[in-house]
Amino acid sequence: MCGIVGYIGDREACPILMEGLSRLSYRGYDSAGVAILDADGKVNVHKAKGRLENLTALLERSPLHGTSGIGHTRWATHGEPSDRNAHPHTDSAGGIAIAHNGIIENHEALRKHLQSQGCLFTSQTDTEVVAHLLSTLYKGDMKTTLLQAMEMIHGSYALAILCDAEPDKLFCARRESPLVIGAKDGAAYIASDIPAILAHTRDVVFLQDGEIAVLSKQGVAVYNRAGVLQSPAPYHVTWDLSSAEKGGYAHYMLKEIHEQPLALQSTFTPRNVDPGDYRWLPVTAQEAKALRKITIVACGTAYHAGIFGKYVIERLSRIPVEADIASEYRYRDPIVGENELFIAISQSGETADTLAALREAKRHGAKVLAVCNVVGSTIAREVGDAHTLFTYAGPEIAVASTKAYMTQVEMMLLIALALGDMRGALPAEEAERLRGELAVLPAKAEQVLLTEKDLRRFADSMSQKRHVFFVGRGLDFALSLEAALKLKEVSYVFSEAYAAGELKHGPIALLQDGRLVVATITQPALLDKTLSNLREIKARGAMVLAVCREDLKDRVVGEVDELILIPAAEDLLAPLLAIIPLQLFAYCMAVARGCDVDKPRNLAKSVTVE
Ligand code: G6P
Repeated sequence: MCGIVGYIGDREACPILMEGLSRLSYRGYDSAGVAILDADGKVNVHKAKGRLENLTALLERSPLHGTSGIGHTRWATHGEPSDRNAHPHTDSAGGIAIAHNGIIENHEALRKHLQSQGCLFTSQTDTEVVAHLLSTLYKGDMKTTLLQAMEMIHGSYALAILCDAEPDKLFCARRESPLVIGAKDGAAYIASDIPAILAHTRDVVFLQDGEIAVLSKQGVAVYNRAGVLQSPAPYHVTWDLSSAEKGGYAHYMLKEIHEQPLALQSTFTPRNVDPGDYRWLPVTAQEAKALRKITIVACGTAYHAGIFGKYVIERLSRIPVEADIASEYRYRDPIVGENELFIAISQSGETADTLAALREAKRHGAKVLAVCNVVGSTIAREVGDAHTLFTYAGPEIAVASTKAYMTQVEMMLLIALALGDMRGALPAEEAERLRGELAVLPAKAEQVLLTEKDLRRFADSMSQKRHVFFVGRGLDFALSLEAALKLKEVSYVFSEAYAAGELKHGPIALLQDGRLVVATITQPALLDKTLSNLREIKARGAMVLAVCREDLKDRVVGEVDELILIPAAEDLLAPLLAIIPLQLFAYCMAVARGCDVDKPRNLAKSVTVE
């Protein structure tokens, strides 16, 4: 996820672009840049690694003047955060500048082709190919060129384009990545999201997939992929700026919960290549066959994703997996044998304990991989991009992790599937079926988000509870650990997760009238066992909220007090749907209790100290 802005009018473009970028910094903040067309018709670009303040300082030292331009705040996906990789990118002559949000999937093939035509690349990004492609196709009309280029680019993009040969225009295009445009009082604006242009106009147009727009001082013109002029429906923004930055959601946590279908899709798509092609996983078939053990190490939510990983990797690949807490692993003088794989999971890529555990594993000679959400982070750099599996959740702002966790568990499934197939432990047709199911998961996740209303009502009635237990078996136990953490993090309600079969070995002593137990039920093979545990719970007077698969509903109705249903799904994938109501429950409890949802007390998003 990155932020794009564009301006054309009579005023100085730079301050308007910088103000817009500051409103979009939640979309990315590892580097930023602007390209401005000056009075002599020359495109000038300034870019700076790091927060937007670095670019501000650069522009103070060396101002850029002009009345049209584009800007970008980056969240790296291809190439580390650096001045060079920051956008805008230009063609070799420097006359065409572009800012991009999304992923160009065929960038490698395009890069080779363009290099063979003499284009000189200066960055490691997927984006730069677009600038060169436009330049090689350009015959005096950027609108036609852009439509032509879009036929050649695969992937997702929102693009803003500045072209010195057409100085009185700005261009933009959209496929899968959002883009909003607006025009008022002799000026026109482009942005990834409404907050960036809300100070200038409340009447905007959302570009649709496949559409392009040409902006000028006279207004905006939108065209479909055939180049036919459209009459897009205008949208009048009624929100204020602070809610607009959260996309209209009350909190970042809720917004990020709602971004999970997209996060799932973005993480899956680059790994959904040809059957049997696992080149995205830096483990050869030979290495996979020789693997004797996998150790997954992480902290907090990422550790819970690791426990999920243990279940699915063992199930599909038949390799023994150990999941450990990083602060424990680093000091227990771990035993690392031959043919062992070490996987560190970290959203931020900066967690001190995870980094130390990783170094410890390396010191013992383990082959290491990282699962990480932040390109250019310390862990990603330490392991190297080639050995880092990036989750494409986009920047996560709320301290309590939701969408990053979702992509981490998805990545665990993808690793399990790849290793299972490479080792011959998982029949190829079964691997294909699972991939097919993964492809439809985002749509099902959208459906699950509709449970929010019921959870809000239920949480309102439960907000005074002081203790909540979470139970489940197998993968549902792995989920319960994360659900309990989420609740305690944001609502400060004491919560504990137990393997359902373990309750009777102690915690059942705490069950009494009115205690709340949240059960997750997604595994048909364990249903009978879980139901008998629920009866033990009910017999002690506790009440049960169950998150349950639709196709198991008939067995569960009547056994619990409140039922939240998720769509029927493959056994290994249903937990990814079940986590959504559990996150929403934690969120709704926190809201009902008046907590500071996005910044819970005593917690930090990234823990860089021991
Ligand atoms: C902190 C955060 C958690 C996160 C954990 C690990 O405790 O508050 O949300 O799960 O660190 O962070 P990482 O960035 O390594 O995934």
